[in-house]
Amino acid sequence: MDAITRRILEIKRERGDSLLILGHHYQRHGIVDVADHVGDSFGLAKAAAEAPRARDIVFCGVRFMAESAAILCREDQKVFHPEPEAGCPMADMAPMDSVESAWATITARLDYRGRKMVPVTYMNSHAPLKGFTGAQGGLVCTSSNAGKALRWAFERGDLVLFFPDQHLGRNTAKALGIREDEMRVWYPSKPDGGLDTLEGVKMLLWNGHCPVHMKFSARDARFVKKNFPGSLVVVHPECEQELVDLADGVGSTEYIVKYVAALPEGTRVFVGTEANLVDRLKRENPKLKVEFLTRSLCPTMYMVDREKLLRTLENLEGEEPVPMPTEVREPARLALERMLSLAPNPSLQQTLAN
Ligand code: 13P
Ligand code: SF4
Repeated sequence: MDAITRRILEIKRERGDSLLILGHHYQRHGIVDVADHVGDSFGLAKAAAEAPRARDIVFCGVRFMAESAAILCREDQKVFHPEPEAGCPMADMAPMDSVESAWATITARLDYRGRKMVPVTYMNSHAPLKGFTGAQGGLVCTSSNAGKALRWAFERGDLVLFFPDQHLGRNTAKALGIREDEMRVWYPSKPDGGLDTLEGVKMLLWNGHCPVHMKFSARDARFVKKNFPGSLVVVHPECEQELVDLADGVGSTEYIVKYVAALPEGTRVFVGTEANLVDRLKRENPKLKVEFLTRSLCPTMYMVDREKLLRTLENLEGEEPVPMPTEVREPARLALERMLSLAPNPSLQQTLAN
């Protein structure tokens, strides 16, 4: 153990239960080694919301995750992000001016009359979009409960506007039995989103994507299936539909961790998600042949390192907590609490439809 890790552990001992370090599965190994709780974005949001003794929560992940913790925590708690510049390009694909203008355009259309649109927003979004979603009667989802969130929305309306990941939206809707011709992509840069009609449309998919998960393709899956017969492919639902359709397992990062751990000894499994997690799955499952479907690292997750974590921990009193204005926090909290009230989904099967 080197001096940085030793000092981080020392501060953790000194601070005891008043300090909680959360780490996403995509974080570097040195961060995961010192985190109190490692999980997917749903698990970490819950951990932040249910941390009775913690006063200071240090979130090692990207900004939207730290913001979600700041929305869910109590007034007497503070959330710190060791690298405030660590954002998410997918979240940036849904700026508020485009969102508000899309909402106004859709609701003003003649073929919208008599319909009710409900927004469903992926956790991977900026706080004001979560606030907008809460204020418009919608909810947040993560990749581990998107199916439940869509069901919730369709109990309250007949049209869902899904932000900002078109792939998670499409894969989840398909798993629920929504047909391809009932879904349309909304292109914010085109007049009327690029659509001439909303007739028969149930799902409007915002034109956003994750550059990290777009690196995996159906071609990769076909290649490994052909060259490694008997091998398995497991991917994150931010991957394109053609790949998801070929995969043996699809689910959130937590799902992927459990899926791999449950495989029989000697199985060769190709994993289509962020490289730090796949690397760790290799180390943690030496009796399996865990392989990269393609090596794809999230550069913004990578911006958080042990040095920045230590700097934050050394200076908690002087550090600026993640800012969260009340007018954003309140409606965003509503949208997140609607998600947290959905029943948990421990099942390993059909995670997208569950
Ligand atoms: P999870 O919801 O699976 O944690 O995914 C977060 C993420 O950023 C995926 O790109
Ligand atoms: Fe954003 Fe993709 Fe990185 Fe997740 S993996 S934080 S969606 S860029």
